[in-house]
Amino acid sequence: MLTRDATVINITIIANGKSSAVETAAGLSLLDILRTNNYTVYAPCGGKGTCGKCNVDVKGEGITLACTYYPDRDIDLYLPGKNEAAILTSQTEFLEDLPLHLGLSNYSGLRPYGAAIDIGTTSVVIYFVNLLTGQIKGVAAFLNPQGIYGADVITRITYCQSRKEGLRELQQTIIRGINAELDTFARKEKITSDDLERIIVAGNTTMLHLLLGVDPLSIGLAPFKPKFTDRQEITGRTIGLHTHPDADVITLPCISAYVGADIVAGLAALKAPVRNYLFLDIGTNGEIALVKGETIFTCAAAAGPAFEGANITCGMGAVSGAISVFTGEDDYTVIGNTAPTGICGSGIFDIVAYLLDHDVVDETGLMHDTFLIHQQNNVRVTQQDIREIQLAKSAIYSGIRILMNIAELSYDGIDALYLAGGFGNYINIDSAIRIGLLPRELKGKMFPIGNSAGIGALQALRSDAFEKKIDNVLGRARYIELSYEDDFPMEFALNMSFSERTFDAP
Ligand code: FES
Repeated sequence: MLTRDATVINITIIANGKSSAVETAAGLSLLDILRTNNYTVYAPCGGKGTCGKCNVDVKGEGITLACTYYPDRDIDLYLPGKNEAAILTSQTEFLEDLPLHLGLSNYSGLRPYGAAIDIGTTSVVIYFVNLLTGQIKGVAAFLNPQGIYGADVITRITYCQSRKEGLRELQQTIIRGINAELDTFARKEKITSDDLERIIVAGNTTMLHLLLGVDPLSIGLAPFKPKFTDRQEITGRTIGLHTHPDADVITLPCISAYVGADIVAGLAALKAPVRNYLFLDIGTNGEIALVKGETIFTCAAAAGPAFEGANITCGMGAVSGAISVFTGEDDYTVIGNTAPTGICGSGIFDIVAYLLDHDVVDETGLMHDTFLIHQQNNVRVTQQDIREIQLAKSAIYSGIRILMNIAELSYDGIDALYLAGGFGNYINIDSAIRIGLLPRELKGKMFPIGNSAGIGALQALRSDAFEKKIDNVLGRARYIELSYEDDFPMEFALNMSFSERTFDAP
């Protein structure tokens, strides 16, 4: 609220061809002003001034970082256009497709609908289902609007601690985003909010805490104990969802602070025809499960958001303008067929693999010159970017190795590697192997499986029988905290190199 003493200034915001005016107190950062007024700016570091990504155009001053600019007078501001993101929603033959089976359901209306929601740190997917027929009536996908508070879960947890209203802001931001889609669906389907009677939510442990307004601080601090991991049941009214006030809202159970309901739902939805397999879900973090017969070994690798572009000089999400495929200096694909403005995860893998093959980067990661891809837009890869990729890929690969050691499995004993989510779908597997992210030994056994977390939530929405599958996963899961493993530092150091290691069977 503006006090009488505060100097009041006007900000004119021009975004997507529309102009609107905002009245605010002087002395706040532009990023804070934009957040408070529900504008979206890509801000992976959450406003620390370190990522250099929150660019806005201030009239008369040019491009500036929103988080380090504190306007003290009226200004006009141009926001970058909203980009459409490539968000994976697909079902594949590797995932369950259960028929409708909801036992005795007491709906209050005659046209009950439900929604299965997968809240990722970067993106959110919602499947809308007619609960009388089981038919999917719509799918919505959008970037998680909490991105303006930071790209990764730790930055968002820190935000909750740093502001009195931080947790509430983050909760309201995701609820507003979901409600906008619930409203759009209701309008299109010619139903009312009251017809939405059952909501199932999957997501990582932090996203579920934020949705329910539960303090996530304990997730960010050792010994990493979340406030809850089990299934939560509330009503739509409790958190202000645009559903029937008494709609069942159920969040699926998690395994630990960093192996969330998204992984549980994905593992439960996976129809693996083999006995021993790896399941990899890499997004802003890397979750790994190694299934050996009846036991599921799980861990989370702190890969950071580099694979989604956050710590990379010209990194960006998989949105229009991003180089997504790279095979040569004049041979690359840009999402949206425009001039490149940056590089997304799949593109950066390809580029690093190319630089290794062409001796621009050596096996230790040393790079002699910055690699310029597009001069006009200054799209480039730097030495620092290569170091970030080394850290991220080593975290994932070392996680795989630690789980294999604990499970006493060699690569020969692993029948398949299932790649969940957008990462698995869009990457070039040869590039991922070349940079040492995925093991060459499993080449030919790697399968992208689609949006397993969202499809898992969808099964839970449609069928009571899926609950047994979830309980089965929980009963078999063992969580390994990598930072407590004695071998981890050595593995991590060895896997930083781009040269390939060979392994003997244990
Ligand atoms: S530099 Fe502003 S959000 Fe990162």
